[in-house]
Amino acid sequence: MGPPVSDFIAREARFGAQNYEPLDVVLSRGEGVFVWDTQGNRYLDCLSAYSAVNQGHCHPKILAAIVEQAGKLTLTSRAFHNDQLAPFYEQIAELTGSHKILPMNSGAEAVESAIKSVRKRGYEVKGVPDGQAEIVVCADNFHGRTLGIIGFSTDAAARDHFGPFAPGFSIIPFGDAKALKEAITPNTVAFLVEPIQGEAGVIIPPSGYFTKVRELCTAHDVMLILDEIQTGLGRTGKLLAEQHDGIEADVTLLGKALSGGFYPVSAVLSNNAVLGTARLDLRWQPARLCGGAGCSARACRGRDDR
Ligand SMILES: Cc1ncc(COP(=O)(O)O)c(C=O)c1O
Repeated sequence: MGPPVSDFIAREARFGAQNYEPLDVVLSRGEGVFVWDTQGNRYLDCLSAYSAVNQGHCHPKILAAIVEQAGKLTLTSRAFHNDQLAPFYEQIAELTGSHKILPMNSGAEAVESAIKSVRKRGYEVKGVPDGQAEIVVCADNFHGRTLGIIGFSTDAAARDHFGPFAPGFSIIPFGDAKALKEAITPNTVAFLVEPIQGEAGVIIPPSGYFTKVRELCTAHDVMLILDEIQTGLGRTGKLLAEQHDGIEADVTLLGKALSGGFYPVSAVLSNNAVLGTARLDLRWQPARLCGGAGCSARACRGRDDR
């Protein structure tokens, strides 16, 4: 048995910024669906690191792949090609049916990149006057913690005393297709939504909601961005939560379980209409260093070498 739990907690509180309130459990090992604390107690981990370890803790195939890759080539930057990026793209495209993939690290970065890409498409393809693009989001959303994202949060704890925030977002109730219809204007470029709201308390929308949302977005040339960072990659019983409703998003955001919790990897997946708008332009491109790195791409691919 290691030092008392209170010792770890007190040291954490002394040196760490107070940005979270964890339970009084100090974990030291994980395997599959189980985790163990420093006192030797075993727990069934139903939280799965908020979906980051959907494959289970320390999945042996992913572990073997990342260890092998770490000894070979860890990082190349995007200034060069590497032998892991192309197979990573191919496998994600095959798995999800997406046409274009933009990898990066955190979920919040993926959300920010999606916002940039739909705005760019809005100006360059839809013809929205520059600087006027609007994105519709839902109340009680959770899309991450960057400055851009918290600006359209309705959670006072996420926003208070962090402003000023960027304009260009309108907020409607989740699960209300009529509200979406009323919120769409000629300048609306996208609707950003979680298939099931997570942070809000696991809120499942009414049946038929996403079918209606898909119809409205198609009818008004509004890009449907589904934030599947938490619901994606098996968390809801399907590969993507959109499959429960038989719809396809224009932009799908993945993160968390994309690398089985070994390495922060996220991705924007889209049809050509959205990411196809992006040309070779370094001002546009996020995560130039890490998104296409050897280890991150390899962690996502596990040991499925093709
Ligand atoms: C739905 C959703 N979107 C975005 C994020 C942000 O991901 P990250 O913490 O990797 O920035 C999260 C994280 O919990 C999430 O649940």
